[in-house]
Amino acid sequence: MIEINKYKNYDEMSKWVVEQIRDAINFNSVTKHFTLGLATGSTPLGIYKYMRDETWDSKKVYTFNLDEYADLPYNHPQSYEHFMEENLFAYKQFRYSYFPENERYDDIIKNNGGIDIQILGIGTNGHIAFNEPGSPRDSLTRKVELTENTRKDNSRFFDIIDDVPTHAWTMGIESIMRAKQIYLLANGKHKKDILEKACYGDITSDIPASYLQEHNNIEVLYCD
Ligand code: GLP
Repeated sequence: MIEINKYKNYDEMSKWVVEQIRDAINFNSVTKHFTLGLATGSTPLGIYKYMRDETWDSKKVYTFNLDEYADLPYNHPQSYEHFMEENLFAYKQFRYSYFPENERYDDIIKNNGGIDIQILGIGTNGHIAFNEPGSPRDSLTRKVELTENTRKDNSRFFDIIDDVPTHAWTMGIESIMRAKQIYLLANGKHKKDILEKACYGDITSDIPASYLQEHNNIEVLYCD
């Protein structure tokens, strides 16, 4: 079981996470670099908005995104790389930003010292990154097929559902569990039920986010 911390509103929730990132980066300033795990979707947009005004040296920060659609050209307006460019990278220059596109991703993360802070959202079917229901606990970065539920949820960013890619590259459950600190965020009443199941219910591959109960350094944030 993990405690769910309820926030007054989306801005407060986003600001709190940015404060944690700031403190951790400043604390780590004696070390060579910092490694930040980033998520896409609408939930982290507030974090990225507040991050733009931060004055810490982003040049010592490496970023690793959780997932990326497969078979989309990199400059496609709905690619996650494009999303990050538009919402964060255009404002803040990081040392290097990685996206998963092959099975070497976990080794690259490891060679960079592992992820210090991982930002995570949750899908309405309990997926994290693109680890859909049924994903094994020991999964690493791989190419996966998206469920109809996820394609439907994400179709709001595309003209029609047929345009939503059928496959994606995603960090696995094990890849995510290796992060030293995780912040899982959910925004909106439509996420409450699945979040409670993930945090209070049984640990099961039917709800991939429930594996996070086994992480010893996770904070769950919710606002409606
Ligand atoms: C996508 C992403 C997930 C994200 C989820 C929720 O499927 N692959 O990483 O957590 O959407 O998105 P939103 O924050 O828009 O609800």
